[in-house]
Amino acid sequence: MYLEEKNLLHDNLSVEGSTLKFAGYDTVALCKKYGTPLILLDENKIRNRMRTYKNAMEKYFGTDSRPLYASKALSFVGIYQIANEEGINTDIVSIGELYTAKKAGFPLERAFFHGNSKSDFDIEYAIENGIGFFIVDTYDELYAIDRIATKHNIRQKILLRITPGIDPHTHEAISTGKVDSKFGTAIETGQAMEITKTAISLEGIDLRGFHCHIGSQIFDVKPFCDAADIMIKFIDDVKREAGFNCEYLNLGGGFGVRYVQSDPEIDYEDNIRKISEHINTYCAQNELTCPKILMEPGRSIVADSGITLYTVGSVKEITGYKNYVAIDGGMSDNPRYALYGSEYTVLCANRMDSEDSYECTIAGRLCESGDLIQENVKIPKPQRGDNIAVLVTGAYNYSMASNYNRVTKPAVVLLGEKDRLAIKRESIEDVSRLDITLE
Ligand code: LLP
Repeated sequence: MYLEEKNLLHDNLSVEGSTLKFAGYDTVALCKKYGTPLILLDENKIRNRMRTYKNAMEKYFGTDSRPLYASKALSFVGIYQIANEEGINTDIVSIGELYTAKKAGFPLERAFFHGNSKSDFDIEYAIENGIGFFIVDTYDELYAIDRIATKHNIRQKILLRITPGIDPHTHEAISTGKVDSKFGTAIETGQAMEITKTAISLEGIDLRGFHCHIGSQIFDVKPFCDAADIMIKFIDDVKREAGFNCEYLNLGGGFGVRYVQSDPEIDYEDNIRKISEHINTYCAQNELTCPKILMEPGRSIVADSGITLYTVGSVKEITGYKNYVAIDGGMSDNPRYALYGSEYTVLCANRMDSEDSYECTIAGRLCESGDLIQENVKIPKPQRGDNIAVLVTGAYNYSMASNYNRVTKPAVVLLGEKDRLAIKRESIEDVSRLDITLE
């Protein structure tokens, strides 16, 4: 009962005495061993989530259907090694991510290259490294890939990114499937059909299907079903108008993750089952052939497999106003509260047996008032030197980290059979390694 009140959220968190344990490890001991800020990743949970997606997609959509890990959520060599070992594909959005996957030995024919502004250099680099698919956003990109593929004497496999016009009622800044979007080509305006016809006509292009992504942190399956209906109807129109048989439909990423107690818990397998039932019924009723389905989960693979630990630097009480607990990280390792007002669950990792009665705002160490991790949380009253844990930080934290104020990026440790350093802590030398002393 007491632990439930503690808001532990996920089954990889537990308490022993006064200490928070994560993936079975003593978090306070790990802070001593590796220093803070420290990102811990539960390796088994990451692997299990990848397996859940792979098995459920094979079971419900058929053996040719695959999850692609959307590595923008968290990209480092080890995660591509894990994705490869688990037999799933990956989605990359830059040649930086591509290079990291390559370094991990990830077979690049199983990588899908996204992004709405790929340069000729990006395209050439990806083709030379044997990229599997490009996901193409615009005419400019389509023509550039055609030109570069032709120069290399290949026909490059692509999917076209289409905007189905769905607003999944999520945060505006992360809802990308609407018509007015910097991503993709809209069905509603007729431009999706036009770019499809052009793609079919180009020598260097091997069009294999379509992609859509409607947004992120979505808890309901309905927007995915709605998007699938629109896309399958479009695929049917394309078959009638252009005689094109679509092999793949990629439904993008976007399943939500529980960050705070009030968020629902999602059964990802059940979501996939519901979407597949919906698609099968829709196709049967409309006498349509169902393409192979791909999905691109990012957040739901890694978010709840991560926590961040900090050390308290100061506790400041402003009489009549509020209390600030300042930590040794901040928006440089987790900019999501500053950017989106995202909610997080905060604990005091070394005072888990004390009452959560101290209301405070968790402030970062950066020189900016908006550098907050969370406002008005309740934790046991901490002291300088205590460890603060912020839960569910596996996705879009390290991958969005910066060196603002020349603060160094945290270490990342994988917790499996043993604890393994996966990304070294940045040093102050690292932070200035590209600078040139003026002559
Ligand atoms: N596929 C595409 C084309 C995407 O744009 C995204 C995320 C994904 C897949 C993965 O979506 P997920 O399963 O992770 O929801 N920085 C924001 C999230 C931006 C998401 C961008 N696209 C945040 O911190 O909430």
